Amino acid sequence: MIREIIIYPDKRLKSISREVESFDENLHTLLDDMYETMVAKNGVGLAAIQIAVPLRVLIINIPLESEDEEVDQPKENTLEMINPTIVDKRGSTHYQEGCLSVPGVYEDVERFAFAKVEYFDRYGNFHTIEDDAFLAIAIQHEMDHLDGKVFVEKLSYIKRKKFEKEWRKRKKSA
Ligand code: CO
Repeated sequence: MIREIIIYPDKRLKSISREVESFDENLHTLLDDMYETMVAKNGVGLAAIQIAVPLRVLIINIPLESEDEEVDQPKENTLEMINPTIVDKRGSTHYQEGCLSVPGVYEDVERFAFAKVEYFDRYGNFHTIEDDAFLAIAIQHEMDHLDGKVFVEKLSYIKRKKFEKEWRKRKKSA
């Protein structure tokens, strides 16, 4: 089921999400709904809090370079991370990020270039993953949501002020 995505500056986006304790049917439904919602909105990642569920759950699905747009984010390619923790990180990199909770805004944000992350899958199995490319950036972006942070809060003071002004203007005219 496609769920409604909550939009910045909704206060719920500031929630500190809590750990998942049962890897049950409710969790599986949440993950399935998150996938449907993300794909419907053309996103590459989504945290549960973005559909107003304050649990430490995120998904990422980096589109395949495919001619056929129907299958460029197959469900089996979805990385489902439950209770993730970063156990190693180094370097720095920049990337122009976007977010389904701040639609239409793309800004350069600084992140660690490398990240090693421990997490559980939907069945409660433990995994470790490491990356030094786009996936590492996406994981850091989604993990920030679990701690109540949205990427625009990482902008410099000047850029943040400019963003807030334009965002208010856009909301007023919407
Ligand atoms: Co986001």
